[in-house]
Amino acid sequence: MIRCKMAMARLVACLALYTSLGHIPSSLGVILRTTDKIVWANEFEPIELTCLIESISTNNPRIEWKKIKNGVPSYVYFQNKISGDLERRAQLREPANILIFNTTRSDTAEYRCEVAAIDDQRDFDEILISLAVRVKPVVPRCSVPEAVTVGTSTELRCLENEGFPAPQYRWFHNNEELPQDPKNSPRFVNSSYSINPDTGGLKFRRVRKEDAGEYYCQAKNDAGHAQCPPQIMEVYDVDILGIFLKSLVAVTLFICVTACLCHSLKRGCFHKKGHNENNYNWPAQNDGVEYGDADEGHFRHKSSFVI
Ligand SMILES: *[C@@H]1O[C@H](CO)[C@@H](O)[C@H](O)[C@H]1NC(C)=O
Ligand SMILES: *[C@@H]1O[C@H](CO)[C@@H](O)[C@H](O)[C@H]1NC(C)=O
Repeated sequence: MIRCKMAMARLVACLALYTSLGHIPSSLGVILRTTDKIVWANEFEPIELTCLIESISTNNPRIEWKKIKNGVPSYVYFQNKISGDLERRAQLREPANILIFNTTRSDTAEYRCEVAAIDDQRDFDEILISLAVRVKPVVPRCSVPEAVTVGTSTELRCLENEGFPAPQYRWFHNNEELPQDPKNSPRFVNSSYSINPDTGGLKFRRVRKEDAGEYYCQAKNDAGHAQCPPQIMEVYDVDILGIFLKSLVAVTLFICVTACLCHSLKRGCFHKKGHNENNYNWPAQNDGVEYGDADEGHFRHKSSFVI
């Protein structure tokens, strides 16, 4: 019985020694850990990048943070001070976390936490965290044609450049969202449109009368959404006779106006002459009058021929 107890005690001691031995290498070196290697934050909100020290023996390790943007590193925390882009916008928190009070879109970058512990066997470790700051979309720019003809093709466009990640686009017709595929909706089954949610294009292969109405587009990402004010698209029938008559009227009107203008100009000269004849003697005008008279007759004949 006693032997057995002693054996047990030995075993426990052995286990304890084994586990402590297992820990020895780590307590001789600095090891870092983070809760998230990829961090998403919303613009204008606080975010904490964690740099946890798993094991260390050195009392006053040297902690540094660098920001790496487009491959270019710059100091964020150096010689116990926040510097560079984050100056006055961040603070270091135990053990080596960095807290940004109010993120901006320019904070999107990679951040490297580096800890040097001179008294440790393994005296350096670093950890890389990538931070992406979501940005709300602004009001998109929308272009909707004012008037299109039945049966023709047309495209409505929507574009937003600020949002991050890049927004997805949705289109609304008379305040009702257009399903991405009209075939899936009994209401729009006969419409020929297609939507590209990545580019914001709303294309009609053949416009129908029913496609007329108010259109607006919404740009949306994880940070929020924004939409443009509604714009009206009118749809007209093709009317070949109407177009022909309209052109005819326009041409006739042009000829009439030209004729009338010439006519009244000539008549103006004639009246002036008649008036002058009564009061003054302007012999120099005589040739002109005769020429004008002949011209007037010519024009009258011409315009009555057209009408
Ligand atoms: C964050 O910064 C923006 C612009 O710099 C400012 O408008 C906003 O009030 C700030 N938010 C906080 C919580 O400080
Ligand atoms: C779609 O077209 C079919 C065939 O022309 C017609 O019967 C149906 O009523 C139309 N549906 C709508 C929603 O306009």
